[in-house]
Amino acid sequence: MAYFSDDTIAEVRAASDIVDVVSGYARLKKRGASYFGLCPFHQEKTPSFSVNPALGIYKCFGCGAGGDVFRFIQEVEGMSFPEAVRTLAETAGIELPEEGDASRERADAMEAAYGALRFAARFYYGQLTRADAGSRALDYIRGRGYSEATVKEFGVGYAPDGWNHLLDEAEANHISAETLEQAGLVVAKKSGEGYYDRYRDRIIFPVLSHMGKVLGFGGRVFSEASGEQDRAQPKYINSPETIVYDKRRVLYGLRQARQVIREQEEAVLVEGYTDVMSLHQAGVRNAVASCGTSLTREQVQLLSRYAQRAVLIFDADGAGENAARRGIEMVLAAGMSAYVVPLPAGEDPDSVAQREGAALQAFLKEHQVDFARWLHDADREAGRLATPEGRAAGMRGILQAIAAIPDPLSREAWLSQASELLATPESRLRHVLDDMAKSRQREERQRSSRTERSGAAPVRPFGGAPPRRAGGAPGETRRATPSATSAALTTLASEKILIRLMFRQGRPMIARILGNMNLNEFSPGATRRAAEIFAEQHQAGAVDVQAMLGGAYGEEVQQLVADVAMTKEEPSGNWKQKKGVQVPGLDANPEEVARQAMKRLKMARVREAMDRQIEEQDRAEARGEDIRTYQENIMQLQALMHRLKKGELTG
Ligand code: UTP
Ligand code: MN
Repeated sequence: MAYFSDDTIAEVRAASDIVDVVSGYARLKKRGASYFGLCPFHQEKTPSFSVNPALGIYKCFGCGAGGDVFRFIQEVEGMSFPEAVRTLAETAGIELPEEGDASRERADAMEAAYGALRFAARFYYGQLTRADAGSRALDYIRGRGYSEATVKEFGVGYAPDGWNHLLDEAEANHISAETLEQAGLVVAKKSGEGYYDRYRDRIIFPVLSHMGKVLGFGGRVFSEASGEQDRAQPKYINSPETIVYDKRRVLYGLRQARQVIREQEEAVLVEGYTDVMSLHQAGVRNAVASCGTSLTREQVQLLSRYAQRAVLIFDADGAGENAARRGIEMVLAAGMSAYVVPLPAGEDPDSVAQREGAALQAFLKEHQVDFARWLHDADREAGRLATPEGRAAGMRGILQAIAAIPDPLSREAWLSQASELLATPESRLRHVLDDMAKSRQREERQRSSRTERSGAAPVRPFGGAPPRRAGGAPGETRRATPSATSAALTTLASEKILIRLMFRQGRPMIARILGNMNLNEFSPGATRRAAEIFAEQHQAGAVDVQAMLGGAYGEEVQQLVADVAMTKEEPSGNWKQKKGVQVPGLDANPEEVARQAMKRLKMARVREAMDRQIEEQDRAEARGEDIRTYQENIMQLQALMHRLKKGELTG
């Protein structure tokens, strides 16, 4: 993460007229000291959006969006804070000072990876229309009913057969093999010398950020020979996570769909690359997919910034049904409403879209049902309602979903809907729902003390038995094993130390810690939120711990900071004993305490990532798939662990 000095930020702010900036996105009319217009963040007919140039802020009384000029650019362009600063600085003609070495290096590495990825996307796209290379691939794509326009819109390409087509082409364009590797495009040979192309003889689906940057690729086998016979070939090969690609936070198709999603306040969620493309082609232009992972909380969160309503269309099989159940809960928990379009057996969104064509939109409208009805129907059709136990489980499933809804009034409304659906009086359902909602809230609070495994990146060291994991796929409620629990306690303790240090030591410490930590290294929940607040305040130039203590950022944060502020000077001997960690006195050497806490936390995160990779590798191995990607990732993580142990990467 890049950090700009307060002076720089103040200069950029002063040079950016908020009325000018906002006018690029909304038509404003002056009334008194303020300007009013239609909100660019939500659909409205009467203006509830206002800009106050004297205060340099905007506010929408309709949707609640509000903030300063940086916030506006961040929201409207989907940028990070540093990106917004850079954009506004550029517009205002302000030259930004060089950033610190570490962040400069990182920014350079990211820049190089983006360049390589863009180059590769162009290369693959070009290959598709070369008669000598891509004609089989193009035939296949046409055979599946995709138009030229769709291929172009999604940048579909072809990776030629061979071990070094991309490597050679990149070299001729002065892109190094190391950069290609960092971008996930080539793989280092086992011998340790040289690289080979990751994607060979595959159809290429580029994965774009919502800003349109190429982040990675999905590559599909398509020739009968490699598809059917050779079971060692996975159907899709996906890019690994890289310095620019965090799979949990990316939705395939969001770039193409975001405008329509915003207008309709609705998104259609599907599972595959081809599903997204087929839906778009059939005129359903608000479709997105989680690519190469099961749907994650982060993806749903991202979506909830654009949509108010999600329609899930998953494959009509057991896996699809489970994915839909998890999806429903996540969608509801993110405060959106959830609908499902059930598909006939054996169909997937792609096949329905290809069949319905222009009638797809109407088909989806006609067949969608709300989540409660869908859950109930799914239970009935599977014969699960035949026994009293099955009926009870079905009811519980529906109430569990309702319990995920954060707004108590919506929960109440859905309760009465469920009561009708289940032909059971509300009074009998209410206490069950209340218990569920309470224990969910408890879980949310404890989430920060747990490991989040959201179907994340591919990641395993050689040898060593795979770790035992409680629980299963992402989004499912899982009980932590004793060892996972104690690992989580250690990370939480480290996180609290860091929050405490930022709270007590203020700005230089905040810069030190947040300069070395990624916000997503903090557990989701109170600690991450607090770290985010420190980052925001720091960037805005005014750290205000009183506001945090006063509850301006919600109860969760308030409790956390009160908690860390009240802690005695040193962690108790008891704690030290239990954890077996040496912690120097907090105020004696805060830098050293910070370093150690960051090191522990980072090591725990790397360990988690490794466990995840081992787990995924084992699953891939059981399916007879290629596991090299996992092995590579694990080796990289081991190298990272080694560096952390040596005391690197923590400032
Ligand atoms: P599907 O097997 O349903 O593929 O996997 P699909 O999207 O319908 O593709 P077509 O229509 O057969 O061409 C759904 C999604 O799961 C991920 C991909 O993101 C895929 O789009 N997946 C699937 C993988 O990442 N790897 C695989 O080996 C298979
Ligand atoms: Mn398909």
